[in-house]
Amino acid sequence: MLIVTVFIISLLRTIESQQDNTGSEQYIPQSDTQNWAAGKKVVATATCGENVSEPELFCKLTGANPDLEGDLSDHQVIQGQYCDYCNPRNPSQTHSAEFVTDGTERWWQSPPLSRGLQYNEVNLTIDLAQELHVGYVYITMGNSPRPRVFALERSKDNGKTWTPWQFFADSESECQHHFGDYEYSENLDADDSVLCTTKFSDVKPLEGGEIYVSLINNRPSAERFQESKVLKEWTKATNIRLRLLRVNTLLGRLMAINQQDVTVTRRYFYSIKGISVGGSCICNGHARECTKPDPKNHLKKLCECQHNTCGDHCDQCCYPFIQKKWRPAETHSNNECERCQCNGHSDTCYYSEEVAQNKSSLDIYGNYEGGGVCTNCQHNTEGCINCQKCRRGYYKRANVLMNARNACAKCNCDTIFSSGACDDETGRCQCKPEFSGPDCRRCNEGYFGYPRCQPCRCHVNGTRDKVCDPSGGVCPCKENYDGPNCDQCAQGFYNFPECKR
Ligand SMILES: *[C@@H]1O[C@H](CO)[C@@H](O)[C@H](O)[C@H]1NC(C)=O
Ligand SMILES: *[C@@H]1O[C@H](CO)[C@@H](O)[C@H](O)[C@H]1NC(C)=O
Ligand SMILES: *[C@@H]1O[C@H](CO)[C@@H](O)[C@H](O)[C@H]1NC(C)=O
Ligand SMILES: *[C@@H]1O[C@H](CO)[C@@H](O)[C@H](O)[C@H]1NC(C)=O
Repeated sequence: MLIVTVFIISLLRTIESQQDNTGSEQYIPQSDTQNWAAGKKVVATATCGENVSEPELFCKLTGANPDLEGDLSDHQVIQGQYCDYCNPRNPSQTHSAEFVTDGTERWWQSPPLSRGLQYNEVNLTIDLAQELHVGYVYITMGNSPRPRVFALERSKDNGKTWTPWQFFADSESECQHHFGDYEYSENLDADDSVLCTTKFSDVKPLEGGEIYVSLINNRPSAERFQESKVLKEWTKATNIRLRLLRVNTLLGRLMAINQQDVTVTRRYFYSIKGISVGGSCICNGHARECTKPDPKNHLKKLCECQHNTCGDHCDQCCYPFIQKKWRPAETHSNNECERCQCNGHSDTCYYSEEVAQNKSSLDIYGNYEGGGVCTNCQHNTEGCINCQKCRRGYYKRANVLMNARNACAKCNCDTIFSSGACDDETGRCQCKPEFSGPDCRRCNEGYFGYPRCQPCRCHVNGTRDKVCDPSGGVCPCKENYDGPNCDQCAQGFYNFPECKR
């Protein structure tokens, strides 16, 4: 146990130092003690003592030696064997699947083969309750040897489909025999190669053996985890399954088993005390840890998202930080989500790809980048993108920044003479057509008779340049025309409108 713990710690150190090298936050190991399997739901397809009417007798593989065994009070010695019953109605004789992840010394146990040879095949499935990058799986046995033939499988889709992670058998020929129809390799030549290993199938130790599977170490991209799509994909899992195929037996096993000798077969079963899963939650580099309990599922731990990101995997920008599209954090940039630039006049906005492509939306750093479009501009502002203009009827105060609350002042324009609106920059009133001047307090050209400016009535053919004098309404007549409206011939000229001499 100690050796394996040191191994795990050194594995985590390796992963941490990898992080330092790349400066990346992509693969975030949890603290050394974080076990993602702890408390998670485990289901076994068969369990000792369950689904049988009587308590189920099993015996240990090792023979009883009453001289050496200390406390035998809980156990019986039957035909020289050291035996006990599985009985779900008695807590001390219960061996249910949940004990695998409850962190106690209790263990799960499969039905002994005396119940039937089909109990060579038992599946033990852990629901991780969320998607993880699994770095390693560490299994400790209870009162049985390790399984002889088994497969470690994972599901990425909450248990709908399964693919193997690693195969285990006691010899290469057994690998071939049980897993030959699956393409497996004998060394880690690819980030996603499925190994068949003979390391963990020995019958010894008879109890308390360990199985340690690293899914990252020694693979080609182990040192650059976050850059390897394949390795990242390879380590993803929502569920983990141990497909146990053959129990480990002592010599002469086949003969005795095939003869269905219960004094032999009741000693053959699987027993697992604990499964630990090391790894990291998937936060796209936007979280340092996953410790936030999910209010909808207490078994799930959510990313503590930073950089204004939201979502179970920090996979979206939080509203209203939607000026730019969401991106995962990268080695050299956190790719933080940014607030829309509304000059402090609005908290609401939406993202428009077209605006982003037009480069017409200003970001909070003053660059035309992103596609945030502010809505509900307050404080008398408008401007379809950044609340960057004063709305109609208001003008921008000189010497006040656009992002000030009082940036926009009401136009000071009399609606008798103007439309009520004014130039949003200068505050100059927009005069009605018949008025002009800074305050619209005089007649425009072509009008006369302030304050009731009326159109000049100058005759086109008789009038020079400008139409009429705005103050008196007198039209400037050409030499050969006369009258207030130049619609008569001057003295000595005849035949209006020609007015020739
Ligand atoms: C075992 O029995 C329980 C109810 O007692 C039932 O829900 C479960 O499906 C049974 N399991 C098997 C493998 O038959
Ligand atoms: C165990 O799971 C595999 C699929 O991974 C399935 O084919 C097999 O039937 C299951 N075994 C039992 C005993 O349910
Ligand atoms: C983008 O620019 C084009 C051409 O200047 C213009 O027609 C279009 O309305 C703009 N779209 C938006 C959403 O501003
Ligand atoms: C003004 O003079 C032009 C010719 O110079 C003539 O065709 C036109 O009818 C005249 N307009 C009026 C209103 O008499």
